[in-house]
Amino acid sequence: MRTAHIRRSRRFRCIAALVGAATIGVGPVFAQSALDWPPAERERFDALPTVAVATDSTWPPMEYINRDRELVGFDIDLLREVGLRAGFRPEFETVAWDGIFAGLAARQYDMIASSVTLLEERKRAMRFSTPYFRAAQYLVVRREDATAVSGLADLAGGAVGAQIATTGSRLIAETPGVELRSYDDLGLAVEDLATGRLDGIVADMAIVEYFVLSNERYERALVVTGEPYAVEDYAFAIRRDRPELQARINAALEEIRADGTLAAIRDFWFDHLASGQE
Ligand code: ARG
Repeated sequence: MRTAHIRRSRRFRCIAALVGAATIGVGPVFAQSALDWPPAERERFDALPTVAVATDSTWPPMEYINRDRELVGFDIDLLREVGLRAGFRPEFETVAWDGIFAGLAARQYDMIASSVTLLEERKRAMRFSTPYFRAAQYLVVRREDATAVSGLADLAGGAVGAQIATTGSRLIAETPGVELRSYDDLGLAVEDLATGRLDGIVADMAIVEYFVLSNERYERALVVTGEPYAVEDYAFAIRRDRPELQARINAALEEIRADGTLAAIRDFWFDHLASGQE
């Protein structure tokens, strides 16, 4: 088994403020990344055959564009490490979430790395890797409403936002009396909540927490309420006609889980959540 090369973790709150690390001399292999491969590994990686990967890079800290305009995040690091071990180099392509599954079905790319929740009903259209991350849906409201709101049902008569066609938007749609407002980009929903155009938003825990903490104004104005709704697992989505790719990814994931690399990547991107994970 190869040794994992991982950078030490950083405080979650610092992530938003991080800029690309210096690349003078023997610098990091990727500018903002948990991966710390020696130059020989990087060379080997660069020479691997590519696999086309779709990601909707609006979902920090899982997949997003940092201040240096680079695609970074937990999923990006994890899939690169998977690829290094499984013998492929992921070639990431940014695709809007709404339509990302249709593109997979139309064979526009081989797989999706985009915080995809593993759902039985989605299995009809795609293969899933083994799960690699435990997630949950949370409701965010304005601070002044927080005492009166302990769940979605308390927002009956109001409007709640989510990214379009996500597990979060489905939870809102299932709540009687609550109007669902769908967004392509969750960041715009967060802004609408802060300015009073929405009464709440529902999205994956790590993402809402990142948005709320990423900006002092949001941190003052917004709170993540009480209990999680559905607990979910993230997995990579793979084309139905690529069973061998699925098998190779699962074998690499098993290794990455067993040797501590998965936990180290998780710690790098958000050590405050590490205790809730397996
Ligand atoms: N986990 C949720 C789902 O699968 C939302 C994922 C959205 N991901 C993204 N990169 N925008 O429905």
